[in-house]
Formats: sequence, structure tokens, C-alpha cells
Amino acid sequence: MRLLVTGVPGLLTADLIPILMERHEVVPCSINDLDITDRAAVTERLRSCRPEVVVNCAGYTNVDGAETSREEAFRVNALGVHYLALACRETGAALCQISTDYVFDGRAHKPYLPWDVPGPVNAYGASKWAGECLIQTLLRNFYIVRTSSLYGKSGPNFVATILQKVQEGQSLSVVADQIMSPTWTVNFSRGLSALLETGLYGLYHLTDQTKGGISWFDFTQAILKAVGSDLEVRPASAAEIKRPARRPAYSVLDTSYLTMGTGYEPLDWQEALKQFIATLKQG
Ligand SMILES: NC(=O)c1ccc[n+]([C@@H]2O[C@H](COP(=O)([O-])OP(=O)(O)OC[C@H]3O[C@@H](n4cnc5c(N)ncnc54)[C@H](OP(=O)(O)O)[C@@H]3O)[C@@H](O)[C@H]2O)c1
Repeated sequence: MRLLVTGVPGLLTADLIPILMERHEVVPCSINDLDITDRAAVTERLRSCRPEVVVNCAGYTNVDGAETSREEAFRVNALGVHYLALACRETGAALCQISTDYVFDGRAHKPYLPWDVPGPVNAYGASKWAGECLIQTLLRNFYIVRTSSLYGKSGPNFVATILQKVQEGQSLSVVADQIMSPTWTVNFSRGLSALLETGLYGLYHLTDQTKGGISWFDFTQAILKAVGSDLEVRPASAAEIKRPARRPAYSVLDTSYLTMGTGYEPLDWQEALKQFIATLKQG
């Protein structure tokens, strides 16, 4: 298939593009190649490129920044997605949108299913949910794939931050009352690649496997253990570590429906972290 992939360079596309290229013709697009908030450019690009699927990894991704730059977050995550959906409808391309666990309010006590009702608690989540709604209104041939807490080799992410603190020898306080599933970008990319092969359009959840979730504090301890660091880490509450954007207290996603449709089994998060650290050491 010919796939047009936006969001280059980015944390996700650094691993997604090479994995998709193993089986497909991939047209990678940076913001300079295609600004998704430019309607004419979006239409023109899809008319000339004629992709079978547009994989939209472009996004306004600064969760705290979105609280004060709400309009910009909605411009990219809603309006830009709206333009992509309209251009996909005109050209017959399918749209694959990467979305987030932050569409949920976090009041659940068991992993969210794809069809659970969203209720975002911050501007970023609200803008991503708006994008999802627009796609579902305008298109039949879409994949919306929610993931959470991505980490990988490229771009700012939680693992990179912790490894930086290790280098600096800075002790840490990390939130212990927000529960999620960290996800290695390589694993997400493998699962997404499997889904794109199916033509089973719909709404999916795709993360690494945590069996009910772990806290950021648990994740930090595992990262420190994996790199053999004895850096001091203290559990803290979200209320103590004040951040501009509220986060859902529980945002674990149930991935079983994606497994049912694709056969892709998410990797255990500890194994994923081990493999990621090994790739860093090799690099
Ligand atoms: N990171 C996570 O933990 C996480 C979790 C759940 C879902 N997601 C979703 O996964 C997707 C990829 O995330 P990521 O962490 O890889 O993002 P990222 O590293 O921040 O990359 C985002 C990319 O989008 C580009 N972009 C921003 N505005 C654009 C526009 N108007 N037109 C075209 N490109 C634009 C950025 O360009 P500039 O750098 O030049 O702005 C950048 O290349 C996003 O949709 C995000 O919401 C991420």
C-alpha cells in the first residue's frame, strides 16, 4: 500500500516509518512538507500523492502547553484532522488517526474499552477527542488508535527524562497515584502495522501489556533497575507535583479488541523496557 505519514520527525514516527517501510511504500511528511492546518495544502497533497491510507501522527502534543494554548491545540488536533478527513473522503483514502488515553476522565477502575465514553479532563485530551469525533462523523474508512505514555529512541519522553536525571545524579519525586500503561514506540508500530493490513476499520486501543496498569513511580523504579542505578526516587501524589494540566488518575486501555482483530499480542511492559534499554546500550 502507499501510506502518507505525517508527524515527521517525531517520537512515534522515528520507529513507525522504518517498520511500515518493511511492507509498504511510505511517503513521510514533515510540517514543512504538509501543514495539516492548511486546508488547500492538505487537499492538494492528497490529490497528488493518492495514498491508500493517511497515517496522521502529526499533533499538538504539549499536554501542559495546551492549557494556555488551547486554540493552537484545537487548530492542529481538531481542525487539521478535519481537513485530513475531508481530503480523505474526496480522494477515497482511509485515515488512521493516532489518539490518546487522555480522552478519558480517569475515574474507571478497570482498563477502558474502545467504546467506553470519553470525558477529557484537560485541553489536550479535549482537542484529541474533537479530532476523533470529526473523523467518525465524516468517514467510514478510518482507524482511530489510542495509545498511552509512549517512549522511544527519539524526542522527549519519560524514559529519556529519567535517564537524564540518572546522568545528573538528581534525586526524584515521581507521581505514584496516576496509573497507566507505558508503551514502546516499536511495539506500537508493530501493532499498528498489523492493524493496517486488516482493513478492519474502527476504534482501537494499543499499548504494551501491564495487566491493569502501573504508576509512573513503578515505571521509574523499573527504569532505574534496568540501567543499574541506585538513584533515590520518592513517591509523590499528583496533588503534590502540581502541573498546569490535570491528568486522568487511571488511563489504562484494554487492548483485547485489537488482538482479536489482528492477532497482535501486546508485549509485557517490563520485557518491552528491557528490550528498549538493550537497544540504547547497543546504540
Ligand atoms: N507521546 C505520547 O505519549 C502519546 C500518547 C498518546 C498519543 N499520542 C499521539 O501520537 C501522535 C504522535 O505523538 P508523538 O509523541 O510522536 O509527537 P511528537 O514527537 O510531538 O511529534 C509531533 C509531530 O507533529 C508535527 N506537527 C505539529 N503540528 C503540525 C501541523 N500543523 N502540521 C503537520 N505536522 C505538525 C510536529 O512538528 P513540529 O515538531 O515542527 O511542531 C512533529 O513533527 C500524536 O498524535 C499524539 O497525540 C502520543
